[in-house]
Amino acid sequence: MDRRRFLATGGLVAGGLAVASPAPAAQATGGGLAADPALFREVNFVHDGLGLSPREYATLLDEAASKRDLPADNYSNGGVVEELETAFAKKLGKQAAMFVPTGTLANHIALRKLAGENRRVLVQAESHFYADSGDAGDVLSGLNLIPLAQGQSTLALDEVKRWVGLSASGRVPMRVGVLSIESPVRRCDHAMVDFDELQRVSRYAREQGIRLHLDGARLFNLPYHSGRGVQEYAALFDTVFVSLWKHFNAASGAILAGDSSFIEGLYHMRRMFGGSLPQAWPVAAVATQFVESYEADYARAWEATDRVLALLKPERRFKVRRVPMGTSRFFLSVTGVDATAFRTRTRQRGVWLPRPDPDTGEFAMQVNPSVLRAAPDTIAQALMAAVKA
Ligand SMILES: Cc1ncc(COP(=O)(O)O)c(C=O)c1O
Repeated sequence: MDRRRFLATGGLVAGGLAVASPAPAAQATGGGLAADPALFREVNFVHDGLGLSPREYATLLDEAASKRDLPADNYSNGGVVEELETAFAKKLGKQAAMFVPTGTLANHIALRKLAGENRRVLVQAESHFYADSGDAGDVLSGLNLIPLAQGQSTLALDEVKRWVGLSASGRVPMRVGVLSIESPVRRCDHAMVDFDELQRVSRYAREQGIRLHLDGARLFNLPYHSGRGVQEYAALFDTVFVSLWKHFNAASGAILAGDSSFIEGLYHMRRMFGGSLPQAWPVAAVATQFVESYEADYARAWEATDRVLALLKPERRFKVRRVPMGTSRFFLSVTGVDATAFRTRTRQRGVWLPRPDPDTGEFAMQVNPSVLRAAPDTIAQALMAAVKA
């Protein structure tokens, strides 16, 4: 993929429409969908990734299929799906990885297999698996989820120890089978779990023979904020899930990584849950294009965003609120202007904001590499013009 095209700069005009002229790389292609100047231009503060439209997605897929004879998979096994699994296993420092059609199922399969006969599973109360998966682990796999650290991102070692002790000392002593941790935590505005505490918890769990799973749907955002690499995180866990549709712009999908012995034959469990897509290559072929570049692009996206915020500072009507232990989210508010009307005007200028909070008027802004499609001063100008208009 020619990344310059998808992150191309110069697409915004303050006070005008988003699409001013074709990006240089698009001009160079000389025709077809890829030359459409309306594509790959919008800066969004809404999504975890580029927020591709169907036409943009089809363009990427067309390019991937034109470059080489794209090897298709068979029921999610082999072909470009296997290539993606291998690439992620290597990135995460794990022996093997398996494609799963959703993150919800990846978490479920991981916990089900890790638990074995020890079905008591410690989770964060704010985690997706506990709060947003409809008790799937209980209903479909007989897991007993214990929700900890309510309202917090970091799960403290003391709380883990307390529950392991309580479980072991009951009239029917129970072993905790698995400890599952999500980081960053979506329900905590993507705040991350403290790395030192994670290390302590992981060490203790291993001493106790408790298996460890990481919901790292957005794992690849952590290194920029914590200074710890994805492999350092992955090493603390037996299994790791990473979303393919958040940072890697696929239409859906997840990667579940672990030891070879864990991943071997796991595709039967995937199929049991109806999760072996007959053809997963359209997902893998797009995700593959972003695996190597994402971390660097995300770091540049934050640098560009910080520059935008510095440029907005003299305009006192903008207020920025940072998230403690935050990653991809910050909050923006604008005084003296109707937040919804402001949002409509920024969109007309090619900058898409999330809906404002109905009570506070704040915008929960997501930083992603689409920010690199325009120069920081162009984005800042678009926001300032939208305040005044
Ligand atoms: C932290 C986290 N885990 C798991 C999931 C589930 O992923 P999927 O939507 O692919 O099932 C999500 C989805 O938003 C998530 O944010």
